[in-house]
Amino acid sequence: MIAAMIDLRSDTVTRPTPAMRRAMADAEVGDDVYREDPTVLRLEELAATTLGFPAALFVPTGTMGNQLAVHLQTHPGSEVVIESRGHIFNFEMGAMAVWSGALPRPIVTDNGLMEAAQVEAAIAPKVSYRTPTRLLALENTHNLWSGLPMDSARTRALTAVAHAHGLAVHLDGARIFNAAAALGTTAAELAAGCDTVMFCLSKGLAAPAGSMLCGSKELIQEAIRARKLFGGGMRQIGILAAAGIVALTEMVERLGDDHLRAQRLAKGLAELPAVDIDPARVYTNIVVFRLRPEEVPGAVEVAPSQRFVTGLNERGVLCGTFSATEVRMVTHYEIGDSDVEATLRAAREVLES
Ligand SMILES: Cc1ncc(COP(=O)(O)O)c(C=O)c1O
Repeated sequence: MIAAMIDLRSDTVTRPTPAMRRAMADAEVGDDVYREDPTVLRLEELAATTLGFPAALFVPTGTMGNQLAVHLQTHPGSEVVIESRGHIFNFEMGAMAVWSGALPRPIVTDNGLMEAAQVEAAIAPKVSYRTPTRLLALENTHNLWSGLPMDSARTRALTAVAHAHGLAVHLDGARIFNAAAALGTTAAELAAGCDTVMFCLSKGLAAPAGSMLCGSKELIQEAIRARKLFGGGMRQIGILAAAGIVALTEMVERLGDDHLRAQRLAKGLAELPAVDIDPARVYTNIVVFRLRPEEVPGAVEVAPSQRFVTGLNERGVLCGTFSATEVRMVTHYEIGDSDVEATLRAAREVLES
C-alpha cells in the first residue's frame, strides 16, 4: 500500500498531540479497578462537570459506554426506540441483543431527525401482551446522516415524550462537542434532559483511546459493576485518562476549524459533475456524498464508490465507501487547508482520468 499522506477515513485516525504525550508520560496512576487512579478520577469529575451530570465513568470505547447505558436501562425482552440509521443499532454488532437481550424499535426518518410524535407512536402501550419499551436512544451528531447536529429544543421535546411514558433516554454523543460547536452552544445544553450520555475522547478530540459515560451517581455506581462484567475493568489507565484531560481542556475549541474544512471540501466536490452533494447538508466534520455511477471512470464490475476510493488511495488520499455509490470523508486535527486542496485535486484527477 502507498503511504497515505492524507487520511480522511475517520476522525479516529488522529495521533495523540505532543501535550497529550507529555501528560501521559507524567501521569500519576493507580489501580482503577480499586478506584485508586487519581488521574482517572480527575477526568471523570471533569467530564461530569462539563456535561452537567452528577457522575461519569471512563470506559475503553464508545461502544462499551453505549452498551452499558442500554444494559442498565433496559431488561431482557424490552425495546429501544432508535432512529433507523443510529450507530447503536447498525454498528455495534447487535450488542444490545447479545449483552442485554434488548430489541431495537427503529424509526425511519427522511432527514435523521425523529419527531416527538414518531417516538410516541413507537412506544408500546403498557398492556400485558405487548413488548415493553424501556429506552429512547438519541445520537448527536448523527454519524450516518453526515454528522447532523440536533438542537437542544428537539432533544428536550424527545426526552419529554419518552419520560412521560416512563422510558429512560440515552444520548450517543460520540461527537457531542462537534454538535455544540456547530450549533453555538455547550455540550451540557445538548445533553440536558437525558438520563445518560456517552461521549468519545478518541474521535475529534484526538486522544488515543477512551470514552466517558455520564449519568446519576447511582447509575454510574452500577456502571462500574457492569463495566467489569463486560470485561472493561482496567488498571493503571491514568496513562490514558491524562490524554483525555488534555482532549477536554485543549481540543474542544478548535473543532470549528474541522467544520470549515469539511465545508470547503463539500463545496469543492460539488463543483465536480460526478459528485452529488449539497454543501448545505454538511453540518460538522463528516462529508458524505453520492457519485453518479456513469461519470466514474474504471471497470464497471467494481462499485463506483470503490473505483473512486481506489483512485484516491493511489494518489495518497484515504477515505471510505458507505455504499456502492456513497463515499465518506471526515476532517480532523491532522487535516489542514492544504490537505483539503490536495484532496480536491486528486478527486478531480480520478474523475477526469
Ligand atoms: C456515533 C458513534 N457512536 C459510537 C461509536 C463507537 O465508538 P467506538 O469505536 O469507540 O466503540 C462511534 C464510532 O465511530 C460513533 O460514530
